Amino acid sequence: MKVLLIGSGAREHALAYSLKSDPAVTELHVAPGNPGIGELATLHQINPLDASAVSDLAQRLTADLVVIGPEGPLVAGVSDAVRALGIPVFGPSQAAAQIEGSKSFAKEIMASAGVLTAHSFTCTNRDEMERALDFFGSPFVVKNDGLAAGKGVVVTHDRGKALTHALECGTVVIEEFLDGPEISIFGISDGVNVIGMEPAQDFKRVFDDDQGPNTGGMGAYSPLPWAPKDIVERTEREVLIPTIREMAARGTPFVGLLYAGLAMTSRGIRVIEFNARFGDPETEVLLPRLKTPLAGLLFAAATGNLASQPPLEWSAQSAVTVVLASEGYPDSPQIGREISGLDKHESSIIFHAGTARESGQLRSAGGRVLAITGLGKNLSVARAAAYSAITPISLVGSHYRKDIALKASIAEMEA
Ligand code: AMP
Ligand code: GLY
Repeated sequence: MKVLLIGSGAREHALAYSLKSDPAVTELHVAPGNPGIGELATLHQINPLDASAVSDLAQRLTADLVVIGPEGPLVAGVSDAVRALGIPVFGPSQAAAQIEGSKSFAKEIMASAGVLTAHSFTCTNRDEMERALDFFGSPFVVKNDGLAAGKGVVVTHDRGKALTHALECGTVVIEEFLDGPEISIFGISDGVNVIGMEPAQDFKRVFDDDQGPNTGGMGAYSPLPWAPKDIVERTEREVLIPTIREMAARGTPFVGLLYAGLAMTSRGIRVIEFNARFGDPETEVLLPRLKTPLAGLLFAAATGNLASQPPLEWSAQSAVTVVLASEGYPDSPQIGREISGLDKHESSIIFHAGTARESGQLRSAGGRVLAITGLGKNLSVARAAAYSAITPISLVGSHYRKDIALKASIAEMEA
């Protein structure tokens, strides 16, 4: 099978890593990729948002499967252009990707599907915004309606800050605050059937102890020793299946990865957000644990054949990912700096996010630079593996969280 993967982050590096290890894959192509992915695949320098460039490439390569990693190309309709050529695509249509592209659309789908989420109002002017803020009270939750790379949400006790963010965004969703731990569960769907993957937890705030602003994600771990045993089954039943049915009933079937960001509240599971693609950095912990060959699985989804897919197989190992970020991330990342100390370790994998190679020298090229996944028999061992691989890496001004999976690993030891 010839596979073309679109994207260039650590998520795509993890996807490439798993696709490459599927014996069914004869050729792996990635556009545009990054220096880490370049060690696994043939790279093609095209604009991933350009639907005709991506479909021309897929056709020229006679790709059997196109996998679209990031939300940008999905929301821009790249999967529609490739699908129109008759090439199987793992990634939803432009219409179905609105489940991530518009928070208010996602709320409407959940309301029709009977999926529980925070109560909310969509507001477009100051008067509506003020009324919604006062209706829910503190802590205030204000979300930009459109795509904002994980940074469009403000959660604050400060009404002034909440209102300022709302006014800056224009159209916003203002909603009830959901209490309780957050987890991510991914559903792989062929438009009709959906298979839940094991849960992961990510760390969105930039600093230890969940301090500082939200980021695209500073780390993750899986499995979650503290989560109820039936969490995947419950999420399939209460969230994934009704959502996939609702999308199909509207004539916009969702083929690809439905990411459910969930709050485990005292009243039950509530959806915080949907995304239309694999999450980052959760993918960097999940895929190294997935034993089911990935290309076959994504091909079955892309061709409507998930009903005959056997249950997913998972490794008993734990995985912990720690993200190395540039100085100033997330507000004003400093890029173009030399990176060194990327030694190979047996129990960890270094995934590239924002890196570039210039005259042989690896340099930082984005806010999140590397995602280091440690593997081990439990979370403590996996943490130790991740941190011992990240410590020798040198990048001036860089920072990473020291507490990824710390609480969960202590709880697991005490259990
Ligand atoms: P989102 O982009 O929707 O995932 O929001 C980013 C982060 O904001 C989430 O991971 C939560 O930590 C927080 N958040 C979003 N919505 C809520 C909510 N209704 N209640 C509490 N926290 C929220
Ligand atoms: N881990 C958060 C995201 O992928 O949006």
